[in-house]
Amino acid sequence: MYDIPFLDLPPMNGASGTVRLPGSKSISNRVLLLAGLAQGTTDVHDLLDSDDTRVMLAALGALGCGLQRQGRVLQVTGLGGRLSVHEARLFLGNAGTAMRPLAAALAVLATLQGGRFELSGVPRMHERPIGDLVQALRPLGCAIDELGNPGYPPLRLSGQPGGRLTLDAPIRVRGDVSSQFLTALLMALPLASGGQPVVVEVDGELVSKPYIDITLNLLARFGIAVQREGWARFTIPQGSHYRTPGSIHVEGDASSASYFIALGAIAAHGGAPVRIEGVGSDSIQGDIAFVEAARAMGAQVKSGPGWLEVHRGRWPLAGIDRDCNAIPDAAMTLAVMALYADSPTRLTGIASWRVKETDRIAAMASELRKVGAGVVEGADFIEVTPPVRWQPAVIRTYDDHRMAMCLSLAAFNGLATGAAGQPVRILEPQCVAKTFPEYFETLFGVASTDPADVPVITIDGPTASGKGTLAASVAAALGFELLDSGALYRATGLAAQADGVPLDDEAGVARLAQWLDLRFGHGPDSGRTWLRGREITDELRLESTGLLASRVAAMPAVRAALHGLQLAFRQAPGLVADGRDMGTVVFPEAALKVFLTAGPAQRAERRHKQLIEKGFQASIADLRADLEARDERDRSRSVAPCKPAADALLLDNSELGIEDSVQQVLGWWQARRPFSAPSS
Ligand code: DC
Repeated sequence: MYDIPFLDLPPMNGASGTVRLPGSKSISNRVLLLAGLAQGTTDVHDLLDSDDTRVMLAALGALGCGLQRQGRVLQVTGLGGRLSVHEARLFLGNAGTAMRPLAAALAVLATLQGGRFELSGVPRMHERPIGDLVQALRPLGCAIDELGNPGYPPLRLSGQPGGRLTLDAPIRVRGDVSSQFLTALLMALPLASGGQPVVVEVDGELVSKPYIDITLNLLARFGIAVQREGWARFTIPQGSHYRTPGSIHVEGDASSASYFIALGAIAAHGGAPVRIEGVGSDSIQGDIAFVEAARAMGAQVKSGPGWLEVHRGRWPLAGIDRDCNAIPDAAMTLAVMALYADSPTRLTGIASWRVKETDRIAAMASELRKVGAGVVEGADFIEVTPPVRWQPAVIRTYDDHRMAMCLSLAAFNGLATGAAGQPVRILEPQCVAKTFPEYFETLFGVASTDPADVPVITIDGPTASGKGTLAASVAAALGFELLDSGALYRATGLAAQADGVPLDDEAGVARLAQWLDLRFGHGPDSGRTWLRGREITDELRLESTGLLASRVAAMPAVRAALHGLQLAFRQAPGLVADGRDMGTVVFPEAALKVFLTAGPAQRAERRHKQLIEKGFQASIADLRADLEARDERDRSRSVAPCKPAADALLLDNSELGIEDSVQQVLGWWQARRPFSAPSS
C-alpha cells in the first residue's frame, strides 16, 4: 500500500504473468449484509479486505453480529432477522454498497422491532443521493429523517417496538439513478415478508441491471427466491426467511479485472499473456461483460471458470462507440484504453458516473486531457480522441480508487508512440484501498520497465553519515525500492566468517558474494534481513561487521560479484540506493546523486548516541578513530573509492535533522521531475 502524497509511475513497456484478484466489492458487501441478517453462521471465503468492506464489518459488529476470522475465512453469525442492538450510530465512509442496503434494512427492522439508527459517511457520501430510497420506504410507514440535505445522508431511521409495515400495494422505486436503491429494497424486504408476498415495482429504465442479477443470485443463496418479471417487477414470496448457505465463496472483482484485461490488450505483446485468476467465464458479475468491449477494441481474451488470459490482438486498439449502461464501473477502463486506439471512442449510457465516488465524467475528462487526449463530455457520455503528443501528467484521483487504477494505464504510453515513454504521477494513490489495496504492487509485479526508465536516487557518503536513515526515509516518501548496498558487503563479510573463508582469499570471498542468499523483508518485515534463511538483522549492524565489510569491500572481485545484484534492485516505481559508489560506479546515470559530507566529529557523536540508545557501551574517541580508519580505507582503495560523483549534490548534514535532510533531497528530486504544474 502506498500511503504517500503521490506515486510516480515510470514509463512501462510490457506485461505478462499472473495476477490474483481481490474479492469483488459488490459481492463482499452483499454477502456480509445477508450473512449478518440470516439465521446461523456463514463461512465467507476470500472476502475483499478494503475500506468499503471494513465499514460494513464495523457496522455489523456494532449491530451485534458475530464476526470471527479463521485464516482466509470470516465466520459471520447473523441476527436471524431479530435486532439485538436497538440504537447505533454507524459511520459508512464512502461505501454506497453499505449505506443504501443498511439504510433499507435498518429502516425495516426499526419500524417492526423498534430502534434508532443514525447512518453517516464522509462528506462525499453526503453528496451521493439516497432520496429515491427514502421515498420508496416512507409510504411503508418507515420513519426516516434526513439529518443534512434532503435526499442525502446522513439519515436517522427510527421506530417503536411492535410497529407495522404497509406492504399491500407494490412498493415503487426509481431505477434510473442507481440500481443500489432496488438492491437495498430487495435485501431489506425479506425481513418483512413473513405474512405476505412483497412486490417491488421499478419506475423508469433500470440502470446497471447486472448488479441486480448479483443481488438476486446472492439472495437465492440465502434462501430468498425472488420472482422477476422483466426488469420492472420483483416479488418476494410470502414466508421468505434468510437462511445461511453455510459457506460462500466471494469471486474476484470483475471491475478490478478490467485493469488487467486492459493491461493485456495494451502491453502483453511478447510471449506470455496476462493471466487473471479469481474471476472467469462463470462469473455472476455484470462487469465480466467488459471482456466483450475489450475484445471489440482488440484484446485477445481466453477464459475458463475462475480465470482469464489476455494478449494484445489488434494494435493500435480500435476506437469503439458503445452503450455502457450495463458495465458502468468497468467502462471507465475503456475510456483509458481509448488512449491507445487509432480512432476516437464514444462511451454512452454513463450518467451514473456523475453520482459515484466523484463526478467521474468530469474527473475522467479532465485527467485524460492532461495526458494529451481530446475529450468531449456530456450529461451521459464521454468521447475520447487519442493524444497526438503525450504529456507527463500529474493525475488527480478525487479520492476515487477507479481514477487511480485507470489512469495508471497511461504509463504505457511509450507503446503508443514507439518513442521514449512519459512518466505519470498519481496523486493520493492510497485511494485504491477502497477495493484493491495492493493494486500498484500487483501492477508492478506483471508490468515490465526498461531499467533505464526506472529513476534512481543515489545517496553516498562516509560511515555513519546518516545515509541509511536518509535513504530509507526518501524511499518511503516516494514509494521507491531501497538498496542498502553496505548490507551486501556486510552480509558477504558474515558469510565469509561463517564459512571460515580467510579475508586474504579474494576469489573465495568473491564466490560467496556471487551466490549470496540474502533476503530483505518487505511490508511488516521491512528492516529485517536473512542470510541463507537465518535472520541476521542485528548482527548486520554490529561495528565488527562494519569492519569486516570494509575489508571485503576493498576487493575488486567482490565488488564485481555484487555489481549485478545491486543493478537488480532497480525496479518500478524507482530506487533509492545508498552506499559509497552508488553514484560513481553502480548507477552512474542516476537522476539525482547526493553525497553527505558530515564531519567525523559529528558522525562519531551520532554513532555513539545510536549505540547508547541500543544499550551498548562505547567511547566517542574510539568510535571516531574507527570511523576515520574506515573512511581512509574506503577513500584510498583502488576500486570504487568513496568520493562524490562529479555531478553529485553535496549535503552537509552535520547540523541538519533527519527531517530537514529528507525535505532537502525531496526538494532536489521534485525540481528534476518532468511534471510541471502541481495539480489542477
Ligand atoms: O554503509 P555501511 O557502513 O553499511 O558499509 C559497510 C562497509 O561496506 C563500508 O566500510 C564500506 C563498504 N561499502 C562500499 O564499499 N560500497 C558501498 N556501496 C557500500 C558499502
